[in-house]
Amino acid sequence: MRLLREKEPIILLFVFMVHGFEYSKTKCNNCDEQLFCNCSFKHLQHVPDVPLNARGLDLSFNQIESIRMTDLRLYTELKTLNLHKNKLTFIHKEAFKSQAKLEVLDLSLNKLENLSSCWFQELKSLQQLNLLGNPYTTLGPSPLFRFLVNLRTLQIGSHSLKEVYKNGLDELAHLDEMTVVGSSLKSYENGSFQAARPIGLVSLSLQSLFEKDPELVSKILQDVSHSETVLIIRDSIIRSNTSTEPFKASKEGGIRSLTFLNTTTTDEAITTLLLNLDGSPLSYIGLEDVHLVGQGWWQKAEFTHYENLHTVYIRNLDIQGFIKFSSMIQLAFLLKNFHKVSVINSMLFVIPRQTTFFLLHIEYLDFSQNLLTDLTIQETLFTGFGQLQNLNTLNVSQNSLKSFEVLSSLAANLKKLIHLDVSHNRFVSMPEKCHWPVTLRFLNLSNTKLLRLTPCLPSSLTVLDLSENDLKSFHQRLPKLTTLILTGNRFLNLPQGGLFPNLGTLLIQRNALRMFTRKDLSRFKNLRFLEAGTNNFLCSCEFVSFFRNHVDDLVTLRDGRRNYACDTPFSLRGDAIDSVRLSVFECYMIPAVSTLCAAIILVLIGMVVTCHKLHIIWYLQMTKAWIQAKRKPAVSRSPDELRYDAFVSYSQHDAEWVEEILVPNLENAQPPVALCLHQRDFRPGRWIVDNIIDSIEKSHRTLFVLSEHFVTSEWCRYELDFSHFRIVDEHNDSAVLILLEPIEKETIPKRFCKLRKIMNSRTYLEWPEDEDNRSEFWSNLKAALSREQC
Ligand SMILES: *[C@@H]1O[C@H](CO)[C@@H](O)[C@H](O)[C@H]1NC(C)=O
Ligand SMILES: *[C@@H]1O[C@H](CO)[C@@H](O)[C@H](O)[C@H]1NC(C)=O
Ligand SMILES: *[C@@H]1O[C@H](CO)[C@@H](O)[C@H](O)[C@H]1NC(C)=O
Ligand SMILES: *[C@@H]1O[C@H](CO)[C@@H](O)[C@H](O)[C@H]1NC(C)=O
Ligand SMILES: *[C@@H]1O[C@H](CO)[C@@H](O)[C@H](O)[C@H]1NC(C)=O
Ligand SMILES: *[C@@H]1O[C@H](CO)[C@@H](O)[C@H](O)[C@H]1NC(C)=O
Ligand SMILES: *[C@@H]1O[C@H](CO)[C@@H](O)[C@H](O)[C@H]1NC(C)=O
Repeated sequence: MRLLREKEPIILLFVFMVHGFEYSKTKCNNCDEQLFCNCSFKHLQHVPDVPLNARGLDLSFNQIESIRMTDLRLYTELKTLNLHKNKLTFIHKEAFKSQAKLEVLDLSLNKLENLSSCWFQELKSLQQLNLLGNPYTTLGPSPLFRFLVNLRTLQIGSHSLKEVYKNGLDELAHLDEMTVVGSSLKSYENGSFQAARPIGLVSLSLQSLFEKDPELVSKILQDVSHSETVLIIRDSIIRSNTSTEPFKASKEGGIRSLTFLNTTTTDEAITTLLLNLDGSPLSYIGLEDVHLVGQGWWQKAEFTHYENLHTVYIRNLDIQGFIKFSSMIQLAFLLKNFHKVSVINSMLFVIPRQTTFFLLHIEYLDFSQNLLTDLTIQETLFTGFGQLQNLNTLNVSQNSLKSFEVLSSLAANLKKLIHLDVSHNRFVSMPEKCHWPVTLRFLNLSNTKLLRLTPCLPSSLTVLDLSENDLKSFHQRLPKLTTLILTGNRFLNLPQGGLFPNLGTLLIQRNALRMFTRKDLSRFKNLRFLEAGTNNFLCSCEFVSFFRNHVDDLVTLRDGRRNYACDTPFSLRGDAIDSVRLSVFECYMIPAVSTLCAAIILVLIGMVVTCHKLHIIWYLQMTKAWIQAKRKPAVSRSPDELRYDAFVSYSQHDAEWVEEILVPNLENAQPPVALCLHQRDFRPGRWIVDNIIDSIEKSHRTLFVLSEHFVTSEWCRYELDFSHFRIVDEHNDSAVLILLEPIEKETIPKRFCKLRKIMNSRTYLEWPEDEDNRSEFWSNLKAALSREQC
């Protein structure tokens, strides 16, 4: 014990040296919430440092050359480890020792020359293992995989693989899926690919091995062909009639499902294939991405037996002799057993009625992605000989159909039709009335350029897909409908719920919906799921509040609330409705604006009233005039410039007195007094104020004829207009006042302070009521106006 403790620092130093000097580790913290760390495409040369509790680690597309003993030691929680496309040449025997929880291991496309069973010793949980694309040449003979007791998916082999020996697969009881690449195989030990029980799916990529070594292929097929196994032969060349010999082994194994993928073949090979498999229980044959050099002349196999061959799945078939490909009547021996036929994306443009005649049991036809037209579909779906009477599914999606009328009249004769997929055609319109089989439940009219719906739609439908059209409204009643898909149209509102009493699911994303209300939704009596994201929502307060608080009470938004974003107002465009915060002002815009306007009007009225009451305008004008007066230079008048003795200022009210009494009395006196009256002496065409100013400047005195009326209504003008004259200054004596009637000083408005001052500081002449005193008045007046006073 003591000894060990003493040595500890040395061990630590050693560890430090290994870690610190030999190579410096990079860090990778690109991990998500599930602790999956994606470190792919990082030019890494070593396994990087990641969080210790990492669950997944993607190291694909790096430059890692080796995995050392300690590289992964700390990551005991790893479930997924992806090392696809690195430069691995070396993996330490104990590299995966602490990965007891690892479920997925991908070592594909590396440079591993030797595989070691030691790697897998602790990988008791491993379910998927990918060893494709490494230059190892041998599998076995040591039992490579026997520790992988839970393995479900195994991918092995490469173009370098030459020898396969028994290697422990026969101990694996859970293997479901196996992919083998082995174009260069030279030897294969019987039983090597046989697991403890038949594997569910086996995919073999053997390229030209069928041609080169059919015997070896036979041995492989013998091991993997079982009635439970789906066998996929891919990337192969099967041209000669000998290359199909191995399938005899498959027949013996009782294979039922056989698919050719990315394979080149010939009429000859297919004929011998059919002969070799004669009498087998084959029930499914698939041809995907198959290149057929031939014209479908397989009648040498005419007398074979394929009673169980019910399903044919053909996709992307490329026929070299396409033009000569005949009516297939010669294949009647096969056709009469078919229940399900798919011919997808294979340039099919017609099936002659003589051929469909043999499709006695057909229930399912998928002719999608072909070249059917309105004309050829009439031939293809011809029912005149009683054909197609068991058909329940018809898929003519992605063809060149244009007439919905033709299609519906053909479908009407398919008495058991349940599914009809006519999506991706170009109907544009539909007739007003149509006949349909009463059995029809599913109709797919997606992407057919429809502009308008009519009562042509079958009322028996339970699922209707109208996505990706140009529809704006929906008025047909479909009482049985449970699913309606309106995605990618131009609806402004939800369709009326009352038309669909049984609708449970409504998809209406990518339309032009502005909003939906509680009322809209509650009209759908049975609606449970709604997908209405990516619309042009108007984020009003009602809608936002309804969406946030109540929409979940009515339906489940299956497409996720994040997809519900505002379109208007502009300031909120693109914001998720859930994240929008509207202010009180925004929410109550109209009342708020009204209140504001009313308040402004009230304030204005108040100001006007106050101005009026306090004569504020008047004071303002006064101030202005006063300022002007202060600026104006004093005028010095010489007696010669004075044309008049007096300028008479009076109210219109008192005009009679002035004209009848004052003027005659003064102008006819001896000596006459020259008076200036604005009505008489003003020069026409001049501004009245200028006239007055002018007159006052040319007059020796200014005679104010004061009456109650003058004071209250006219004075104001004087104080304003003439305040800049000396006349209203108390130090100037040019003003002469005549009081026509007694005026109480208190009645003079307070703001006419100058008038008050003048009246206080100066004596004024009172017009006597009594005639006897008038001569005295006149003489006083004349004296006051006389120029030679002093
Ligand atoms: C990791 O990131 C790359 C791109 O850097 C991406 O292609 C890859 O799909 C990601 N892997 C996983 C498992 O998400
Ligand atoms: C693989 O094994 C062979 C023979 O056992 C050996 O010669 C070769 O060096 C090994 N290669 C590597 C990279 O370990
Ligand atoms: C392997 O099987 C083939 C036939 O399938 C047989 O001819 C051959 O003798 C077998 N070889 C061994 C070693 O069992
Ligand atoms: C199809 O198979 C050929 C060999 O027959 C192969 O070279 C090619 O890569 C395969 N194509 C695909 C897409 O797998
Ligand atoms: C196999 O091919 C040869 C010529 O390539 C032909 O003569 C022979 O009849 C073919 N066998 C079968 C069974 O089709
Ligand atoms: C019809 O074919 C299209 C295209 O191949 C496919 O997407 C669709 O699922 C098919 N419809 C049915 C009902 O199988
Ligand atoms: C209708 O057809 C479209 C296009 O082929 C397809 O994407 C969609 O899934 C189909 N709808 C249904 C309900 O199967």
